[in-house]
Amino acid sequence: MTFKPAEWPRKLRSQHWYGGNSRDTIYHRGWLKNQGYPHDLFDGRPIIGILNTWSDLTPCNGHLRELAEKVRAGIWEAGGFPVEVPVFSASENTYRPTAMMYRNLAAMAVEEAMRGQPIDGAVLLVGCDKTTPSLLMGAASTDIPSIVVTGGPMLNGWFRGERIGSGTHLWKFSEAVKAGEMTQEDFLEAEQAMSRSSGTCNTMGTASTMASMAEALGMALSGNAAIPAVDSRRRVMAQMTGRRIVQMVKDDLKPSDVMTKQAFENAIRTNGAIGGSTNAVIHLLAIAGRVGIDLTLDDWDRCGRDIPTIVNLMPSGKYLMEEFFYAGGLPVVLKRLGEAGVLHKDALTVSGETIWDEVSQARNWDEDVILPVERALTQQGGIAVLRGNLAPDGAVLKPSAASPHLMQHRGRAVVFEDIDDYKARINDDALDIDETCIMVMKNCGPKGYPGMAEVGNMGLPPKVLKKGITDMVRISDARMSGTAYGTVVLHTSPEAARGGPLAIVRSGDFIELDVPNRRLHLDLSDEEIAQRLADWKNPVQPPVSGYARMFHEHVEGADTGADFDFLKGPRGSEVGRDSH
Ligand code: FES
Repeated sequence: MTFKPAEWPRKLRSQHWYGGNSRDTIYHRGWLKNQGYPHDLFDGRPIIGILNTWSDLTPCNGHLRELAEKVRAGIWEAGGFPVEVPVFSASENTYRPTAMMYRNLAAMAVEEAMRGQPIDGAVLLVGCDKTTPSLLMGAASTDIPSIVVTGGPMLNGWFRGERIGSGTHLWKFSEAVKAGEMTQEDFLEAEQAMSRSSGTCNTMGTASTMASMAEALGMALSGNAAIPAVDSRRRVMAQMTGRRIVQMVKDDLKPSDVMTKQAFENAIRTNGAIGGSTNAVIHLLAIAGRVGIDLTLDDWDRCGRDIPTIVNLMPSGKYLMEEFFYAGGLPVVLKRLGEAGVLHKDALTVSGETIWDEVSQARNWDEDVILPVERALTQQGGIAVLRGNLAPDGAVLKPSAASPHLMQHRGRAVVFEDIDDYKARINDDALDIDETCIMVMKNCGPKGYPGMAEVGNMGLPPKVLKKGITDMVRISDARMSGTAYGTVVLHTSPEAARGGPLAIVRSGDFIELDVPNRRLHLDLSDEEIAQRLADWKNPVQPPVSGYARMFHEHVEGADTGADFDFLKGPRGSEVGRDSH
């Protein structure tokens, strides 16, 4: 990709607020001067918004104010004018009913914060799962020059000599308690051991996946994704990012220059190589929709299908993000994709260089963490997109986190009508279920939950766990935490609350899962399915007011990214008239 930088100097959008000496200018400029800025700072230099998702209730981003200071320093050094702007912070571990319900709200808030204010360029300061896609979506909609810097992962968790990962061991330990293999006291002791420092989840969960996606898309400086939150090099990265955005504004290097179809294909292949979260599917589809790129579920299957998972990190593998960083991080993975001929090497990045320029010199310092292809965790690591009469619009499964012996499986359905039904019955020893059954849960999709919670990796029934069984096929219209694992079919579309075939599955029906052939089949005649759908009554009541109502009315299906129908496509940075 060849990029022709714009001429500099030129008039920037912030000059519509601060340039000249009109009454309106003095109104805008004068108020900002109450912060003690000298007059010559309003000389037309780029005003850079540091869009900060810090919040005490987003603990994964709890250190971002300190990091913002390093970004600010970099912006000053490069001749920009930094302004820190708090934006909506959708914390994964705090928001109810689920942070996913607020991703689109956050993206709207970010878009309007960028467009409505004198911002020439933006540093997207993100970390926790939804903060990265929501800010990328907002930035894509305005197409104002933007660059990502993430907060970085937490240090490794350690408990009694064992490396323990955020989320992954929460699920493991809670199953162990249910199976009678771990005491509640030990579980509580492990709690603090999981979170030893500032930062995001230290597994290849959704936060680390989305940090990797931002880097693979070319939207972050090379090497950003894996640096631990508390490593001094994270702060150096923040400062370098601050410096870089100023030049990006001068060059007019925009998100649409970087986030091309090729960049998304690079990201999809990267997701397969790192064993990344299924949540990346939804988020990348939504981001692409904002840029106006035609990206589909089929692109995920086509690009990811033959990508081996070579990053040996939990939940698919053994290590954590700290080791990934020491091994060389994402540049090593991108280099390997390039050597395998499956990376668009000339994709442009925010550095102004191509992605191949950035990664071609990377070295792997630990081949037990970033594996040779012969020792890949799975040879087909990309997200599998399943279709069939149970998922006409698609469903996804993460092969690297699934059990090989369940990839082709026919089983009797045990159906839970929603999450409450599941919780009410799963621990009942009278439940008619064994390890050959397929657990099915409905009404956990975007409209159904609402918000599409990460509950798809339903915990197994205790009577199965007590036999030493650790995996069963599970199917739902929910999402799954990127830190989770199992043979779990997710995002089944159309979702039950939209009247998809999932809505009419009954306990006792038989279902066939065939991952190699990408098939998800409900073993009923077409006539029986049609009759049940005709008789179906939607149990989900639409919210009557507030944001929940807007969400319900406008959210699209998981198969297209679960964005709002009215937010697709770029809207640019043009702002309306002044109010004074
Ligand atoms: Fe915030 Fe995992 S819960 S990064």
